[in-house]
Amino acid sequence: MPTSLKDTVTLSNGVEMPWLGLGVFKVSEGEEVIQSVKAAIRNGYISIDTAAIYLNEEGVGQAIRESGVPRENLFITTKLWNTEQGYESTLEAFETSLNKLGIDYLDLYLIHWPGVDKYKETWKAFEKLYKDGRVRAIGVSNFHVHHLEDLIREAEIKPMVNQVEFHPHLTQKELLAYCKKEGIQLEAWSPLKKGELLNEPVLEDIAAKYNKSVAQVILCWDLQHGVVTIPKSIKEHRIIENADVFDFELTAEDMEKIDGLNQNSRSGSNPDTMRVGF
Ligand SMILES: NC(=O)c1ccc[n+]([C@@H]2O[C@H](COP(=O)([O-])OP(=O)(O)OC[C@H]3O[C@@H](n4cnc5c(N)ncnc54)[C@H](OP(=O)(O)O)[C@@H]3O)[C@@H](O)[C@H]2O)c1
Repeated sequence: MPTSLKDTVTLSNGVEMPWLGLGVFKVSEGEEVIQSVKAAIRNGYISIDTAAIYLNEEGVGQAIRESGVPRENLFITTKLWNTEQGYESTLEAFETSLNKLGIDYLDLYLIHWPGVDKYKETWKAFEKLYKDGRVRAIGVSNFHVHHLEDLIREAEIKPMVNQVEFHPHLTQKELLAYCKKEGIQLEAWSPLKKGELLNEPVLEDIAAKYNKSVAQVILCWDLQHGVVTIPKSIKEHRIIENADVFDFELTAEDMEKIDGLNQNSRSGSNPDTMRVGF
């Protein structure tokens, strides 16, 4: 089990990825994103997860520069938006994201959603960016097992990460097992189900037992499942709270209780039917 925010998991290509980072979905460009990213870095976060579609890459970049922490000590992820899938358009979108972030390489670049028929061509551009040393690791997001199987069949390089919706109402058992078997690191988005899980009675009981918050229990559950997690908050006290999860461990029984909350219910789209931008 990781014991601090500095602890990392080794991806299949040897790159070290922090177990816990800050998400910035729906965090406004400008002061809001700058302040939350700076608060995270000030409190020891290394990993920041943004996306072209969040329209806050410039603020993330400004916060990185103002944080005083050398860029190479941070782990920056962004994602290719759906409208940009395709070989040439991906290469262009990558440059745009990098320019907005004001950095000269990425730690992790993800295909945001699979869509239907362009992710293999898109992946070829990802492989080029990786081979050219522009990005340290490449991966996907919102890929089901069938998408991964289809991609891997023809890919030269296997995705190193799959970032998906993952929380106690969507435990993704089959996908998690598949990714473990294939050496693809699973990463949880909306780990708190956007806040919806914070009043769940079973989680409240478990949290009381460990003298932790429900958010902390969920994030600990992620880590004990071997899943990287990226909770979002714009409030510094919660950014600190969400990272204070390395001093306790859930019993096997409590892990099972939380697993038992699964409803296969999503707060976001199902990747099989998500067609925005395609
Ligand atoms: N790849 C994808 O398709 C995809 C999709 C969605 C999200 N993501 C990534 O995953 C990240 C996390 O997901 P998310 O932002 O959707 O939701 P989330 O992290 O599950 O939940 C965020 C919500 O919970 C609140 N919150 C955070 N910590 C809390 C705490 N300790 N106590 C009480 N409330 C707390 C936040 O409010 P405050 O901000 O007011 O504290 C916010 O409303 C995103 O920011 C993004 O980077 C990726």
